[in-house]
Amino acid sequence: MKKFLNLLLIVTCLFILGACGKGDNRRIIRISHNQAQDHPTNIGLLAFEEFIESKLGDKYDVQVFPNELLGSQVNTVELTQTGAIDFAVASNAILESFDNIYQIFNLPYLFDSPEHYHAVMDNAELIEPIFTSTEKSGFEAVTWLDAGTRNFYTVKKPINTPDDLKGLKIRVQQSASNIRMMELFGGAATPMGFGEVYTALQQSVIDGAENNELAITSNKHGEVAKYYSYNMHQMVPDILIGNLKFLNGLSPEEREIFNEGFRLISKVQREAWTESVEKAKAQAQNDMNVQFIYPDVALFKERVLPLHGEVLEATPKLKPIYDKIQEIGKQIKEGGNN
Ligand code: GCU
Repeated sequence: MKKFLNLLLIVTCLFILGACGKGDNRRIIRISHNQAQDHPTNIGLLAFEEFIESKLGDKYDVQVFPNELLGSQVNTVELTQTGAIDFAVASNAILESFDNIYQIFNLPYLFDSPEHYHAVMDNAELIEPIFTSTEKSGFEAVTWLDAGTRNFYTVKKPINTPDDLKGLKIRVQQSASNIRMMELFGGAATPMGFGEVYTALQQSVIDGAENNELAITSNKHGEVAKYYSYNMHQMVPDILIGNLKFLNGLSPEEREIFNEGFRLISKVQREAWTESVEKAKAQAQNDMNVQFIYPDVALFKERVLPLHGEVLEATPKLKPIYDKIQEIGKQIKEGGNN
């Protein structure tokens, strides 16, 4: 009921916002995400706004809504499904409930390096069937965004080995794979939306969470959680999804311009990513007194690797994709050794 009322409120607000724009016949394109204004994702989306309006500005008015202004990721995926908004950035984690093909990128220790991760996500042949898998749900993925490497961070004590997670309540994203992963690590999984994490840490509802470095600074989690452990368990991409009816209603010429815009988002976002992470680390250490810990990654890896077999057995359609990902990893390693 609460969820329904939230959605109703958001749709009403959107209607009022739309009504305010009367007199201007441009079609408003609403894009939602849950990051702050200085986050690489917002920077990438603003570049898209500028690009589309420079090409098709007489017809479209692109509006980017950061900071969960239009709702949490789960809410805004639903709003994109119905067409109440046009685009939303969703973590790959939550998309597995729309098609289990997305489970693949939620597997811990799937990629050997950021280079491997990027090569896989940029492989059009591999990505295409995944990105179009949710057409039945009224949306498709149009591009991916870097969300770095996920690591544990905690309030009271550092995580040096998986045993340190025992008895700790750790926030995870709202996905069955992530809950299972945390079970294997030995912590108590507490799923919740991203926007609730700060308060949950502050009020000791949870003992820690797991995310990339920007959560510490951009989302201020480092004000409460002072230990960040580089156990490197996941590289989970963010996915920009678009309402299918909207996308299919574009003329072929417009769609080509939009596609160029989607590529631009990825490019700009990724260029901003590395620098943002470096800045976040410096800020966390120097201004927030966050301690970075470099534990033995192998200890963490061995706990959760059984998840690969479990998932592949339960969802056999993932096997060819998984094999291809391994193959790309091998090629990169061999190339690097030459
Ligand atoms: C990252 C990711 C977000 C996601 C968040 C989370 O910040 O970029 O898309 O929502 O993690 O843990 O929920």
